[in-house]
Amino acid sequence: MRIVMLGPPGSGKGTQAHIISELYGVPVVTTGDMLRDAVARGTEQGRIAKKYMDRGELVPDRIVNMVVRERLSMPDLEAGFILDGFPRSTAQADALDRILKERGLHLDYVIHVTLEDKAIAARLGKRRSCPMCGAVYHLESKPAKEGGVCDECGSGLVLRDDDKPDVIRHRLKVYREKTRPLLDRYEGAGIIREVPGDCPLDELPGLLRNLLG
Ligand code: AP5
Repeated sequence: MRIVMLGPPGSGKGTQAHIISELYGVPVVTTGDMLRDAVARGTEQGRIAKKYMDRGELVPDRIVNMVVRERLSMPDLEAGFILDGFPRSTAQADALDRILKERGLHLDYVIHVTLEDKAIAARLGKRRSCPMCGAVYHLESKPAKEGGVCDECGSGLVLRDDDKPDVIRHRLKVYREKTRPLLDRYEGAGIIREVPGDCPLDELPGLLRNLLG
């Protein structure tokens, strides 16, 4: 199973990607987490990426395409993958097409997660993320068991630097300009499945299983 998660920032792409992963045993590849990891490790790529991420801009295609190409060549993804946050531009979609073509593969589904801007802004202020393992919580809909501590690895949870109101507004603008147009590209292939980003969390596994078979 090869899936792309597409939708505005904070719509719930990562949350749904991990539910699909649990249902079907397919690994999730989250470009945002990979870039945040590079920033935390202080690599050259991470230093460049940080400047863009802090402003809510897309990290340059050449960096992201390189990171994703390398990741997709790893053996744990041979049987399938869920791409969470890639592609986000025409150049990235072209790169993904090339990678898949070289390997004689195709995408099975593009999951389009929908949510209105107002709900996104309200939601992201209450998201808490684990900087160590990438686990994601929400103060109301998915609180950590022990307050500000990650259930998975015990690290302190944080509000992401780009989950601040002015940066969220800019991320939404960038999504509309650069990423949303990709829906037209996948529309013709008949592989888009729409999922409301505000579907109750306990109903998501059933809904996703119905959609994906
Ligand atoms: P990235 O980390 O990918 O951020 P994003 O796309 O903005 O998406 P988010 O992670 O913010 O949200 P999400 O849709 O996954 O929602 P989530 O499941 O967490 O990218 C960050 C930055 O990295 C970019 O701005 C860019 O600079 C760079 N970058 C990354 N990929 C790139 C690329 N390909 N090219 C260039 N640059 C790139 O849910 C949000 C909250 O809502 C959580 O608290 C969650 O618990 C809650 N929630 C989710 N679903 C529900 C529900 N159904 N009901 C109730 N609560 C819910």
